[in-house]
Amino acid sequence: MKKACVIGWPIAHSRSPLIHGHWLDKYGIRGVYEKHAVKPQELDEFLAGLIAAGYSGCNVTVPHKQAVFEAVASADDATRRLKAVNTVFARDGALFGTNTDGEGFLAHLKASCPDWSATRGPVAVLGAGGAARAIAGALLDAGVPEIRLFNRTQERSRELASDIGGAIDCRSWSDRHLGLEGTGLLVNTTTLGMKGSAPLTIDLDRLSPHAPVYDIVYSPLMTELLKRAQAKGNPVVDGLGMLLHQAVRGFELWFGVRPEVTEELRALIVSDIEASL
Ligand code: ATR
Repeated sequence: MKKACVIGWPIAHSRSPLIHGHWLDKYGIRGVYEKHAVKPQELDEFLAGLIAAGYSGCNVTVPHKQAVFEAVASADDATRRLKAVNTVFARDGALFGTNTDGEGFLAHLKASCPDWSATRGPVAVLGAGGAARAIAGALLDAGVPEIRLFNRTQERSRELASDIGGAIDCRSWSDRHLGLEGTGLLVNTTTLGMKGSAPLTIDLDRLSPHAPVYDIVYSPLMTELLKRAQAKGNPVVDGLGMLLHQAVRGFELWFGVRPEVTEELRALIVSDIEASL
C-alpha cells in the first residue's frame, strides 16, 4: 500500500487529503493520503523518519516550505532557485524536493483569464513566503516585465529578489495601496484573509479595472479581497484551481498515475469548504 501525506502547522484547513483521496478512488489505487500537524521544532525529525515510516513522499504547506528545502537531500534546478519545496518524494532512499506551486498557479490563471497576458504590465505580489517565491519565479519565466513585491518584512523580500533574480522591485508593505497604479495583475500570497487569520486591508482604488485579482487563499473561496475586486468589476481568480493543479505532479510521483483536474473534483472541494465556514 503506497502512502503519502501533507504536513503543515496548522494543518486543519488542508484539503489535500480530499483531493488525493478522490483520485485514489477514481483510479482504483490501493493507497492512503493523510495529514499531519508538524510543529516547526518537530520538522527535521518527522522528515528523517518519513521513508522508514513507509511514505512515498509528502506535500508541504505553511510554514514549512523553506525549511523543507533546507532539509531534503537534493532538489531540481528550479526548486533550488526558489529555495522552497511543496512536494517531497523518495528517490534512491533519500528525500528529493520539488515545487509544483508555480505550474499550478499559472495553469489556473490561464484557464480563468484567457485574456491576461504576461506582457500587460508589472504584477503586484503581496507576500514573500514560500508560495510567493514559486509564483514570482513562474511569472518572470512567463515574461512579466516587473514584479512589485509588497511584504511586511523587508529582509524577506530582499532575499527572495536576490534568490530568484530578474526584475523584482521590493516595496514597503505600506506602499501596497498606491503601488497598484499601472499594474496588470494583483496576487495575494499572504495568509491574510484566510479563515482564522487577520483580514487583508488594501485599497484597490488605484488598480486598473482590467487587472485580474488572484487570491491564493481558498478558505473561504471568495475572500473579502475577491469580493471587493469583483464589486469593482475586476476579473477574479480564486485559490482553489492552483491547489488542484499543484497536486497533479505529486500524485503522479507517489502513486504512478497522472490525474485529471475535473469539475467534479472542484465541486467536491467547494462543498467541503462551504460546509466548514
Ligand atoms: P507560504 O509558504 O504559504 O507563502 P509563509 O512562508 O508563512 O507561507 O508566508 C506567509 C506570508 O504572509 C508572508 O509574506 C508574511 O509576511 P512576513 O514575511 O512579514 O512574515 C505574510 N503575512 C502573514 N501575516 C501577516 C500580517 N499580519 N501582515 C502582513 N503580512 C503577513
